[in-house]
Amino acid sequence: MLIQTANSFGTYPPVLIFPLFQNETLTNALSKIAALCGIDATLLTTGFKAELKEMHQIYVVNRRKPELKKVYLLGLGANPSSAEILDVFRSFAHRNKTTLPSSIGLDLLTTNATQRKETIKTVAEAAANGILLGHYNIGQYKTNAKTPYALLSEEASLTIITGKQFTETANNAARKGLDIAQTQMYIFHLVNGSSNHVTPTHIGECAIESGARHGFQVTVYDKIQIQTLGLHALLAVNRGSETPPTFIVMEYQPKQHSNKTLPKIGLVGKGITFDTGGLSIKTANMQYMKSDMGGAAAVLGIMEVAAKLQLPLHLIGIIPSTENSVDATAIKPSDVINSYSGKTIEVDNTDAEGRLILADGLTYLKRNFNPDVMIDLATLTGNCVMALGYKAAGLFCNSQALADKLLQSAGATGERLWQLPLWDAYKKETQSDVADIKNHSGSPLAGAIVAAKFLEAFIENHTAWAHLDIAGTAFGDSEYSNAKSATGYGIRLLTHYLEQLAAG
Ligand code: BES
Ligand code: ZN
Ligand code: ZN
Repeated sequence: MLIQTANSFGTYPPVLIFPLFQNETLTNALSKIAALCGIDATLLTTGFKAELKEMHQIYVVNRRKPELKKVYLLGLGANPSSAEILDVFRSFAHRNKTTLPSSIGLDLLTTNATQRKETIKTVAEAAANGILLGHYNIGQYKTNAKTPYALLSEEASLTIITGKQFTETANNAARKGLDIAQTQMYIFHLVNGSSNHVTPTHIGECAIESGARHGFQVTVYDKIQIQTLGLHALLAVNRGSETPPTFIVMEYQPKQHSNKTLPKIGLVGKGITFDTGGLSIKTANMQYMKSDMGGAAAVLGIMEVAAKLQLPLHLIGIIPSTENSVDATAIKPSDVINSYSGKTIEVDNTDAEGRLILADGLTYLKRNFNPDVMIDLATLTGNCVMALGYKAAGLFCNSQALADKLLQSAGATGERLWQLPLWDAYKKETQSDVADIKNHSGSPLAGAIVAAKFLEAFIENHTAWAHLDIAGTAFGDSEYSNAKSATGYGIRLLTHYLEQLAAG
């Protein structure tokens, strides 16, 4: 989609969107819009209150503007968050995607949304991001090819009207909104993809393709190389699967940067392409476990966005990927396995597999890159979903300064985080009689915290590590689907965090 900015319309697009805040200038803005549409102002001022998510459509009868056919008023409420604004545009586009033409306009000049640069930026980014995301089509395996939506066509355009002083701001913000949305849709596609298609090898191929297109390095280690590297915990989880594992290492640095050293951030994403539970087999909701690579997909998405935006930092993304399946060769509860770190692990429950592959990913990241900050994202525990539901991810962090920054980004993006403790009091649950550590304690209590304590044993005393348990937030209810579907959680959150970090 082409983004254009202008100070006025030469020729009007057939559809014009007016986002409107609920404030004292609303009546004035509505009167101007009524004049443009050729309708009576009181019809609008009494009929539209700009409540959050209120939507109003007007067929235009202005003979002097025959090109303009339809106007949409979108209510933003009095004081919306950026996530709420995004939601307004996304729902709008989702509901109207079959009728929207390939050329639409967004008027930020005649509305009351215009006065501040920050507001222009927020609304323009949210509009572009939400409008594109609203067009996401979940039916990736349907054989009857649907006619693609007009706004997804090559020649589609979004023209934003702002005051002269804001055209660049609006243009850049909208461009960024589109860039992020494209990556988010790609990540939806991967997470919603079924496990017989989205295998560890497939994720590796996606990473290579994305790296080549957007400019970051990718190495995909296959099973033999994984054996040579000594990623024993990843290999152990893979034992019950016919599909081989992959270990994906991605590295991004901006194309041009001065000699000063860039902050180095390492990400690790859980890439379980399907979690049957292994021999500790799942008895409920197994069908959702195609999304157990949501952390891996988020890491790939963040790498892609960082490269698109050419953020001034050094970013490493690591994805250990395998299926967790059942077979005669699968690991059994009570088996003791080795790990990349050299620590032995008693596998008390084969369904606590995520922490096993992450253990190898985290130690690998620490030993080979020693980044300033390490962050892992994982659909790790049902227990975290019990605690926080689908509205927030769990944050575990051994540096309060890092936690505060992540919480701030969570607030700014609406991808909520809630901090949970990492107290050593919970460490006992990971003590094994026979091995260095065990992956499960048998107690259903505080499972998300115990899982985090397990991971902590593999970061080799790194002092700025955060673990995001995204089990509840990666896959949820949405307008796209009758069942649950991918949310792309983590991409906007960590993009914001990385931008703040890059800005110093
Ligand atoms: N992938 C699951 C966690 C999960 C649950 C993700 C629900 C998304 C929604 C993880 O591998 C798992 O099975 N965890 C177990 C751990 C337990 C055996 C200690 C769990 O949460 O029940
Ligand atoms: Zn599991
Ligand atoms: Zn899992």
